[in-house]
Formats: sequence, structure tokens, C-alpha cells
Amino acid sequence: MPSSPSNPKPAEVTPEALYAKRRQFLQQAGLFVATSAGLGTGLTALSSLGSADPPVKPAERPEAPTERPWSFQRSQRWSSREPLTTYEAITTYNNYYELSLTKSGPAELGYLLRPRPWTLRVDGEVKPQSLDVDTLIRWFGVEERVYRMRCIEAWSMVIPWLGFPLAALIRRLEPTSRAKYVEVTTLLDPAQLPNQESPILPWPYVEGLRMDEAMHPLTFMAVGLYGAPLPGQNGAPLRLVVPWKYGFKGAKSIVRLRFTAEQPSTTWSAVAPDEYGFYANVNPEVDHPRWSQKTERRIGEIERRPTLLFNGYASEVAHLYRGLDLARNF
Ligand code: MTE
Repeated sequence: MPSSPSNPKPAEVTPEALYAKRRQFLQQAGLFVATSAGLGTGLTALSSLGSADPPVKPAERPEAPTERPWSFQRSQRWSSREPLTTYEAITTYNNYYELSLTKSGPAELGYLLRPRPWTLRVDGEVKPQSLDVDTLIRWFGVEERVYRMRCIEAWSMVIPWLGFPLAALIRRLEPTSRAKYVEVTTLLDPAQLPNQESPILPWPYVEGLRMDEAMHPLTFMAVGLYGAPLPGQNGAPLRLVVPWKYGFKGAKSIVRLRFTAEQPSTTWSAVAPDEYGFYANVNPEVDHPRWSQKTERRIGEIERRPTLLFNGYASEVAHLYRGLDLARNF
């Protein structure tokens, strides 16, 4: 698609300053390779408004699988009534930088991820232990939640996830009273995630939540979508979903939860703190430094639609941020 001022190509929306910052980060990490022309694309892609590419290559039209390994019901209390984004779009238009920097690449490489056996390590301000993902599913069962997802790149989807509330797991783990945050770490294994060979971000990808955010009933550990296990590209076998925050908080392929007294350092906010905050609450009033967050493109729709404060979940979550300046704590 030709670029225009309102729809620039990724390379056009990444200013020199960001390249310099990234170069500085890579140098600090001892990873800067002067000849590696591809290094730039990491931040560029997340920051891109180039999400107007067609979501699906015509040759690839995956259909929702008919296998139903778990019995489940849709939670009416916590589900959106909006039309679902197609399975095809949800599973072929992805951000999973450890697999690929393009939107279609993760779907091509997602098969490399081996989701079983899978262990979740739990440590920090809690009794340390290792838990098998199927044990978690047995403990908590699975339910369906239809959530809106709004990416910081200004596209959005409506996704029927399967999983269990993170709060159920945390209650069972009984972290100490010193636990004020939970750090969420994802898989580090270049054999399964080949793009971890390239130093576009410090791997593994790490996210984090304040404890009250983690305990909120909307905060979800997804193990499936459209009734079936998560495909690799969507974060198999276990990923975080925090629907009132930008999609990058939704860490994929989680291997560790660490309960901490201090706010953890998280990947995007460490690499580009002026662009990606720790909170990352969806907020149409706080623009990204390089584009507006007032509207979004719902995948499958033509007209842009207004972006809603907290992605439309304000009545559920606004109280968590009372007294906090959302423009400073973005
Ligand atoms: N988790 C990991 N491990 N690596 C990533 O690159 N991308 C994030 C988030 N989780 C990412 C990740 C971003 S930017 C978004 S918008 C969502 O995953 C996209 O999820 P989806 O591909 O299932 O739509």
C-alpha cells in the first residue's frame, strides 16, 4: 500500500533520535553490529502505523480448529458482545518479535514453538515452585472471555480467549505481603524463537503489573483462543491478557512469574521509556510521541473508530488509578 502522511511506512515514522537510542542500547548491551542493517526494524515495527497491510496473505486462510480439548463456558460477566475478529486475522496478523518482525512472519514460524511439556517457574516473594501448564489448567479450569485488544500501533481486535484469571493463580500461590508487583518473563530459547539470535531487543521479553492490576478479575492467563489451544504465534501455551492496556503488556509464552517489592524493569519501557510506559493503559488523550492514539483501526473494518479510555473498561478499572496522573504515568 502506498504511504501517505496519515499512513506512513514504518521506516518513515522512526526518527533519527530513536535509531540513536537503539544504537546506544545495543552498545551498552555489547551487541551493536555496525554492518547489521536489519537491526533497526524492531522498534520501528512496533511503532509503525504501517498496520494497514492486508492482515492475511490470500494463500493462507486458516480456519478455527474444530478440536475442543477443554470443556468451557463463555463468561457473560466479563465478555464483550462485539463481533469477533476472524480466527484467520487473529492468527496471521501478529506481533511476536522473537519469531519475526513482520505481521505475517509469526504465523509462518509459530510451529517452531513446542508448547508441551511447559513449566512455569514461580519465585520472588512467594514459595518458589515449578508448575506444569496442564496442572494450572486442571486447578483452575478454563473459561472463555471475549476481550477487545488494542495495540499501541493503533489497530484493534475482538478475541475469544480461553484461560483462567491470574488472580486465581496468585491467590493459590499466596505471595508474601512484600509482593507489590509481578514480573512476567517469557521463553528464552533461540531454537524455538529464532529471532532471539538478533539483538533487536534485550531477550527474554519481560513485562510486569502492579499487584492490584494482576489481581483484577479482568486480568487473564490465556491458554487458547476460538475454543482451541493457542497457536505458537499467539503465545502458546500461556500468555497474559490485560484488556485495558496496550497489547504489548500481554507477554507471550510465559515461563516465569516473580513477585517483587519493587517495580520490575520491562522490555519496551526500558528500551524506549518516552514511548512505552510501565502502565501502558489505553488512553486516547495521551498520544504516542509519534502518532495520535485518538482512533484505531479495528481489523476487518474500514472506517477508523474512536479509541476509548482504558479500551472501554473504565468502569471496571479506573478506580485502580485514582489520584495518578495518567499523562505522566502513561
Ligand atoms: N510477547 C512476546 N513474548 N513477544 C512479543 O513480541 N508482542 C506484544 C504482545 N506480546 C510480543 C508479546 C505486542 S506488541 C502485542 S500487540 C501483542 O503481543 C500481540 O498479540 P497477538 O499477536 O496475539 O495479537
